Amino acid sequence: MAGVCVVGAGYVGLATAVCLAELGHSVSCVEIEQRRLSLLRHGCAPIREPGLEEALKRLSRAARLRFTGSHTDALAGVSFTVLAVNTPAGSRGETDTSFVEDALRAIGNHIPRGSVLLLKSTVPPGTGDAIAAKMAPRAVDVVSNPEFLRQGSALEDFMRPDRIVIGGDSEAAMRAVQRLYSGIRAPVYYCSRRSAEMAKYTANAFLAARISLINEVAGICESTGADINEVSAIIGADRRIGPAFLGAGLGWGGSCLPKDLTALIDTASRYGRSHDMLEAVYRVNIGQRELACRHLALAGVGREDPSVAVLGLAFKPNTGDIRGSPALEIIAHLLEDGFRVTAHDPAAIDEAKSALPNIRYCSDAYSAARGSDAVLLATEWETYRTLDWNRIRRLMRGNTIVDGRNLLDGSGLTEAGFNYVAFGKPVANRSKGDAERVRPIAEPVAAGGGSNGNSATRATEKQR
Ligand SMILES: NC(=O)c1ccc[n+]([C@@H]2O[C@H](COP(=O)([O-])OP(=O)(O)OC[C@H]3O[C@@H](n4cnc5c(N)ncnc54)[C@H](O)[C@@H]3O)[C@@H](O)[C@H]2O)c1
Repeated sequence: MAGVCVVGAGYVGLATAVCLAELGHSVSCVEIEQRRLSLLRHGCAPIREPGLEEALKRLSRAARLRFTGSHTDALAGVSFTVLAVNTPAGSRGETDTSFVEDALRAIGNHIPRGSVLLLKSTVPPGTGDAIAAKMAPRAVDVVSNPEFLRQGSALEDFMRPDRIVIGGDSEAAMRAVQRLYSGIRAPVYYCSRRSAEMAKYTANAFLAARISLINEVAGICESTGADINEVSAIIGADRRIGPAFLGAGLGWGGSCLPKDLTALIDTASRYGRSHDMLEAVYRVNIGQRELACRHLALAGVGREDPSVAVLGLAFKPNTGDIRGSPALEIIAHLLEDGFRVTAHDPAAIDEAKSALPNIRYCSDAYSAARGSDAVLLATEWETYRTLDWNRIRRLMRGNTIVDGRNLLDGSGLTEAGFNYVAFGKPVANRSKGDAERVRPIAEPVAAGGGSNGNSATRATEKQR
């Protein structure tokens, strides 16, 4: 069993630290954010992930996992260092590698000679090679080991990955990394560092593309009278396609897909390569948010003090993370258009408050809906499926519900008196000429890496 230092105690760093300790390694995790560190030292999880807090307490008690604010302390005697710091989008959509550079400076003179440095942070192709050149005088081998876990099931995904990717140029170091993971059953791919780095960006671009494609098709379904849920189920049964990432609605978001897509566009443009498809994927996604705003705007037409209740702030269920959340982008847009906004989320309210202080946060969906002209269901939390919608209807001033995740029973809600709006369902009585009334949320990403159009997300990232 090995000594491992994990740098960064976020979603990826904590999952890595806990799971490697679970596999029997002795793990020290270094974190620079004081509040987060203090919570971790008391055995409390600073983020919401199933199973995390229980594992933190148990492994810390067993002295297999510890947390520190000192890089020197964390690195003492380890054979592996895992870099898991954040790599947010820069102002032009490029990858901001400054956290990686800071972390490398912090570990620089203390990383043990002859040890292996694993890069789990998502970084542009070529970054690992550059780091390897810098580490060579210390005889540290650098391996690109991208992470593919999903927030909301991070520990489970880490322990049961679809594959383990090990990119490097030293057979001995790559084998050592494979041994680090022994106990996890998954195909292992040996490749160059650059292929490992590209594979990570490509995977996220591909996932985003699937959703944008289905959303574009959803628009065609609305006009042709087809139902996108039925279409998705049918094409998802095709083994060449598969059922995941085929849900129509507000589109993709989160801490990774938006920034990784713009980063790939930036990389393509720096090498003078085409990125037309990647840009289209991005534009279609913005269009989905605009579509939601359009339906909500109609609900407010002619109303004094128009208001919208937003159900769901996290970018997806089972996480408190609001980075890249469609809900936040839409709320920012509604506020600019003079709407009053109330909101509920089972887990993300504390995080949302710092990014969007000017809305009213409610402890349940019913209080959020009270007096509103429209409800937007933005995150598919299971609890929203079973709400008493008749009660919500009575509490609202208007009757529009925009189901941004195609989650609810549309015919039941229509019978209950709602003006139910979903994505990719046949258009019955909606006016088709309203598109022109809506101004765009953001300019499409520019060639050469434009803004990711998400000021709320960037603001949050800076605060972290
Ligand atoms: N979140 C995901 O689902 C996911 C999945 C796969 C890959 N990734 C990639 O993994 C990386 C980390 O993502 P995340 O979501 O865990 O980020 P995060 O923001 O949740 O966590 C990063 C942590 O690193 C800490 N940190 C920053 N600089 C540090 C330093 N010098 N020393 C010690 N700690 C430092 C931060 O304070 C923060 O707690 C990113 O490159 C991301 O793209 C994320």
